[in-house]
Amino acid sequence: MPPSEQGTVMPNTQQPLLEVRDLEVAFTVDGSRIKVLDGVSFKVAAGQTLGLVGESGCGKSVTALAMMGLLPKPHGQVVAGSIRFAGQELRTLAPDQLYRLRGNRISMIFQEPMTALNPVQTVGEQLMEVFRLHRPSDDKAQRKAAAIAMLQKVGIPEPEQRFAVYPHNLSGGMRQRVMIAMALACEPDLLICDEPTTALDVTIQAQILELMKELQAQTGMAIIFITHDLGVVAQLCDEVVVMYAGRVVEQADVFELFDHPRHPYTQGLMSAIPRLEDQPKRLLKTIKGQVPALHEMPAGCRFANRCPHATDLCLMAAPAVEQLTPHHQAACHYWKELTR
Ligand SMILES: Nc1ncnc2c1ncn2[C@@H]1O[C@H](COP(=O)(O)OP(=O)(O)OP(=O)(O)O)[C@@H](O)[C@H]1O
Ligand SMILES: [Mg+2]
Repeated sequence: MPPSEQGTVMPNTQQPLLEVRDLEVAFTVDGSRIKVLDGVSFKVAAGQTLGLVGESGCGKSVTALAMMGLLPKPHGQVVAGSIRFAGQELRTLAPDQLYRLRGNRISMIFQEPMTALNPVQTVGEQLMEVFRLHRPSDDKAQRKAAAIAMLQKVGIPEPEQRFAVYPHNLSGGMRQRVMIAMALACEPDLLICDEPTTALDVTIQAQILELMKELQAQTGMAIIFITHDLGVVAQLCDEVVVMYAGRVVEQADVFELFDHPRHPYTQGLMSAIPRLEDQPKRLLKTIKGQVPALHEMPAGCRFANRCPHATDLCLMAAPAVEQLTPHHQAACHYWKELTR
């Protein structure tokens, strides 16, 4: 990453690091194919942090897994669209090329660190394995030194001792730091974080977010941050993509989105921001009604059955994503009327 790009937000005119366009993903369940992502598009520039938000089941994790080429096979499939990373189409990459890309340029941190760490290998062995793949010319002593330095970098006290312990000997916060260390060990250009802090207490969560910001400022990596928590979005993100039932309903610069949400779903989210002491998961429950089931999505707007402004037009015709300003898009027939 050139030093000039470190920690800066690239303008939208710059070639994006990642561009997802019209992505469609389907799962085959009991012999029938169900589309879970329908025309998802967004871009991320180097050094930028993009938040991906939306209610449980809207397709955030599936979007991340599709980008990483990690959809469960054979029943999960990208059926249309493109995923371009640094100008290269990922959909057509051979599995070994994709594997190398994941080890070198794109990393992911999962929600539950225990599932992503190997319980029978020490923390140090697992980190050294990442370095073995990323820097094959290093010898064992160099890999060990790099692993200890990385543990220190993510704020793990006494890294020499922690190097030799197993994941279950660490607290949740420390395990998550190990996961971050592993994800960062390959110095990725893009880090995808799928709710990496929801399992942690608020103080640890804040520390980890701070740490990620610091490391981003040092390396200039781009981050896609998936979360339910709009407080985290406000703290961390430059741009936000709001998803609803497998589609993007709004995307904007973070200030623009918080100040002038245009889609009624986003407006609902904004008015439901919890107080500090509330649980993040509670924040979306105040929007009445339920997301339609995947196998019976309506022809019109997918939010229409919960929308206070819906008309016959909304029930009949799906709104297209419209560019409202250079940094703001929304998919609502009435976005012009729905200013706040
Ligand atoms: N392996 C799978 N097989 C079948 N359907 C799946 C599979 N994984 C996800 N889905 C479906 O795809 C849809 C999107 O799921 P996804 O996990 O992406 O949601 P999410 O936005 O990450 O939700 P959450 O906030 O709860 O993590 C859901 O309806 C889910 O049931
Ligand atoms: Mg998820």
